[in-house]
Amino acid sequence: MKNIRNRTQIYVDYNSTGPLDDAHLDAVLAALRQFDGNPSSQHATGRRAKVAVEDARNHVANLIGCRSQEMIFTSGATESNNLVIQGVVGKSWDLQGPSSLSSQAPPHVVVGATEHPSVWELAQVLAERGRIRLSVAPVDQNGVIQRAELRALVDHDTVLVAVMLVNNETGAIQPVAELADLAKAKNPLLHFHTDAVQAMGKIDISWLAKSKVDSAAFSAHKIGAFKGVGGLYLRAGTKIQGLMLGGGQERARRPGTENVPGVISFGLMARNLGAVQERSQQQALLAALGRIPGAKIHGDPVQGVANTVNFHIEGVPGDDLLVNLDLAGIAASSGSACSSGVGRPSHVLKAMGYSDWIALNSVRISFGARGGAGDVDRIAEVLEKTVKRTLSPGVG
Ligand SMILES: Cc1ncc(COP(=O)(O)O)c(C=O)c1O
Repeated sequence: MKNIRNRTQIYVDYNSTGPLDDAHLDAVLAALRQFDGNPSSQHATGRRAKVAVEDARNHVANLIGCRSQEMIFTSGATESNNLVIQGVVGKSWDLQGPSSLSSQAPPHVVVGATEHPSVWELAQVLAERGRIRLSVAPVDQNGVIQRAELRALVDHDTVLVAVMLVNNETGAIQPVAELADLAKAKNPLLHFHTDAVQAMGKIDISWLAKSKVDSAAFSAHKIGAFKGVGGLYLRAGTKIQGLMLGGGQERARRPGTENVPGVISFGLMARNLGAVQERSQQQALLAALGRIPGAKIHGDPVQGVANTVNFHIEGVPGDDLLVNLDLAGIAASSGSACSSGVGRPSHVLKAMGYSDWIALNSVRISFGARGGAGDVDRIAEVLEKTVKRTLSPGVG
């Protein structure tokens, strides 16, 4: 197999995934040699694996200040978002009784306009199937939900509000704690969920469990741990319908033998995770883009997380920029990595008021631990050359 890592000299796609570090791989392998049992087994090997899983759970729970039993391990944030959204909706149908499917109005759900597809598309499908009545909370030109707009959407039938903490495409931060306060002041019975995937390791999230937020989704690979493992914070006492049946693992919320390697990896990365608020690379890229004719920044990166810049260059297709970056050994991304390749305009940029063309041709640079001095200069150089080649073919 070709070594993809060797080909990529500059990796600036951390919002898509954090690449695995050799020291981390060694640490997980060493742990697995000791803890390779099934955590549900009663014998010593199983009990050791159980200890490793619970140790990891403590580390992840510590990041948001919740009790360890409130953190459920899943296969990733897509599952965490599905589990809680389908679980809350399913539970409210249950509570309405057996005749509800034909006679009752579907439960009301509010989601932010810039949610990740694992919330956004799920909500659209549930609405199309008549399972929910859906309202979308609009955002301003910086991608931030307006408090009054969200408050106005919540009513007595609202069972769920889902607003992400940090946007994966733009890095915009939502005032989630305040939004949860506002929503619950209007309807104390609703469930407030946040997709906090892009917040972990980027901003302080230690307040989460103390806030009015009832659940939060996390993904291990976004913080440099293994893919295929995630977390769901679910406030103690919250009743939701399970997505899967057939086992008692994870307090029966998420049956199936735990992904022990993934969970150990998640715990090890969570153990020493701080919040990266160092903006020097973001600032340098913003300055470099300011010198490229036609480059336009989306939203207000300085108000968002420190690692993300989303932009387009007038008249230059996003794919040309990304292909040339890739040929130069630079891994960047267009819009949402999860839906890249689909070729649809980003619903996030459209919600912020951008045209279809811009929403289809945006580039996202997301910095991380592996960045080095000179990366931004190299990125800017490739962008400039691509602009020259596209806008003045034959020159240079
Ligand atoms: C904001 C956000 N939510 C959810 C997900 C899905 O996470 P996972 O890959 O663990 O399913 C992602 C991944 O890109 C994300 O950025």
